[in-house]
Amino acid sequence: MAAPRATMKFWKPGTEAPGISEERELTSETTVSPIIFNPNTALSIEKQRQKLPVFKHRNNILYLVESHQTVIIVGETGCGKTTQIPQYLLEAGWATEGKVIGVTQPRRVAAISVANRVAEERGALLGHEVGYTIRFDDCSDPHATRVKFLTDGMLVREMMADPLLKKYSVLMLDEAHERTLYTDIAIGLLKKIQKKRRDLRVIVASATLDAKNFHEFFNLNDSGDPNKDTSAILTVEGRTFPVDVFYTVSPVPDYVKATVETVMKIHESEEDGDILAFLTGQEEVEKVVSLLQEQARALSRYGLKKHLRILPMYSGLPYADQMKVFERAPSNVRKIVVATNIAETSITISGIVFVIDCAFVKLRAYNPCTAIESLVVTPISKASASQRAGRAGRNRPGKCFRLYTEEDFEKLPASTVPEMQRSNLAPVILQLKALGIDNVLRFSFLSPPPAQTMVQALELLYALGGLDQYGRLTDPMGVRMAEFPLTPMFAKMLLESGNFGCSKEIVTIAAMMQIQNIFVVPPNQKKVAAREHRKFAVAEGDHLTMLNVYEAFIKHQKSSQWCQEHFLNYKGLLRAMTVREQLRRLMNKFKVPRTSSEGDPDVILRCIVSGFFANAARIHHSGSYRTLRDDLELHIHPNSVLYGEKPPKWSVSGCNVWYLLCVQCGGFPQTTQNEICIRSRRQSSFIFCFKVLQKP
Ligand code: CDP
Ligand code: MG
Repeated sequence: MAAPRATMKFWKPGTEAPGISEERELTSETTVSPIIFNPNTALSIEKQRQKLPVFKHRNNILYLVESHQTVIIVGETGCGKTTQIPQYLLEAGWATEGKVIGVTQPRRVAAISVANRVAEERGALLGHEVGYTIRFDDCSDPHATRVKFLTDGMLVREMMADPLLKKYSVLMLDEAHERTLYTDIAIGLLKKIQKKRRDLRVIVASATLDAKNFHEFFNLNDSGDPNKDTSAILTVEGRTFPVDVFYTVSPVPDYVKATVETVMKIHESEEDGDILAFLTGQEEVEKVVSLLQEQARALSRYGLKKHLRILPMYSGLPYADQMKVFERAPSNVRKIVVATNIAETSITISGIVFVIDCAFVKLRAYNPCTAIESLVVTPISKASASQRAGRAGRNRPGKCFRLYTEEDFEKLPASTVPEMQRSNLAPVILQLKALGIDNVLRFSFLSPPPAQTMVQALELLYALGGLDQYGRLTDPMGVRMAEFPLTPMFAKMLLESGNFGCSKEIVTIAAMMQIQNIFVVPPNQKKVAAREHRKFAVAEGDHLTMLNVYEAFIKHQKSSQWCQEHFLNYKGLLRAMTVREQLRRLMNKFKVPRTSSEGDPDVILRCIVSGFFANAARIHHSGSYRTLRDDLELHIHPNSVLYGEKPPKWSVSGCNVWYLLCVQCGGFPQTTQNEICIRSRRQSSFIFCFKVLQKP
């Protein structure tokens, strides 16, 4: 594939197929809206609010918040924690004198969606009394906003400007059971702040009964001795019925098949009641749905038994299809919901009497030996197993069929490993350093991360120039890197781009890389879409392909019609514009010169490498890539424009998009201490690989 230089900058119409599209795994930064089901929409807002289980606890919650520095509130999904508690606090006067009630959410979309709902409940315009703040999007008013929803990452960022979070009277850390990286960090930091601000209240809201951990954490002082009782637990009991648990006699060789068989056995031999089956991902869910549909057709041919209504449920499913799982089935129909882990805590489906649990879940995992982050299918924890079983006993006594032996159940870990212990920590450590926490190893972690992961993060930050040899934040590089709302590698690339003479292009590339799914692939139009997408592909790889897409979008007056014709995500591109504008402002602030490469791709590639050198891989004679650092095998992702092309000699991988980039021999930074953060096909189906340079 020869590099195009003809008509337009980097433009290469009609290049070869970029390859097939694989299921995109959704990370915690998913753009898919959360699913909310409200059975009471016919009632007035006031009545709806009073019907929620949390309403009965209103006074008790207010009393506990008054009398304790920290309150842990546990309650089933949908009981009203997120939407009601901030309003109770507001009504009780916790947001007078300019104070703000802050509520953190692990996901951006959730922050927007609950802020919308609460504003609606209060008959307020979003962004005034009730608002939200997420990365690159602030819909709040510093003077008027009293209840503010924000991502947990955003809260940590706000501490850089306001270390004691003085404007907040109460902070509610929501969905704490998810134990995301930033929720854990925020919990550690808030505990520190509480020592200086006795008036600050912290509420930890969680959907599952793992409250003891939080309780103990807040009640222990720095030397690990119990404090006075500064924290309290409150449980909003949902009604639950007993659930009988059954195990297999011997291990099942194939849980997909076993799930289908178990559904059919329940259907044949058990009384009425809907079935919920847990699987690990979209592909498995679709497989089980199609196998069950075959069986259902066979059954109906014989006119036997009740009908089956088989419904998939996963986060990438279109909204209308997701809502179907909440519809009640008629009495002659048995509903079967085949779901991913989303049905464990994120949604509650009523009417479920039987649960089938395959014992696995897909989790993001970080391997400190290889420095690779990937999505892996992992055994669930005992806590998850009991949460899954509990889904069967919401309306009447139920049954849970575990597709594993009781012996294997005993071997499961007690609870899921928190993200803190399975993530790349470089961004977090940079932020802790910027917050003045020099000895990160001694930070009060709810669950301390492995030492090796910490050391690696420090190494990477040192290699990027963000820390000096004593592990201190460098000024200005480290200070500026921490201020960028992007990971350190991105920050470094952006900060260096002026010197490389391509800051205009780099800022576009960085913005585009924050958007998932720029290319739209409707299932029934895969071929046409691929043909359209190919028009943007260039030999320099995915970064420059993204740059092409953006520049063409601007050239075509940001037309949604044009996006539709080329199967591009119009909303995503608009968002890229917003992100770009904000990054540009930060670059101005740091006086990064505004320069353009004027069509020369080399400087852009070199600049990308200045940030992402740690992810470099070199082609191996076997045809795959080997990382420079660990000699780990990698392959080009099928979504990359270089998939199926002559592989470039060098490549650099990154996150979120599949881009390729080429490094000229000799232009490669000499370093050995770097970190590679690539998802490898060996561990899951994921890898990002990049591009090549072909000198004419
Ligand atoms: O936080 P938790 O899961 O305890 O519940 P919530 O998010 O406060 O939601 C309480 C109820 O409000 C839900 O059961 C829905 O009926 C309703 N709700 C809604 O209709 N629309 C939303 N965007 C959020 C909640
Ligand atoms: Mg909630």
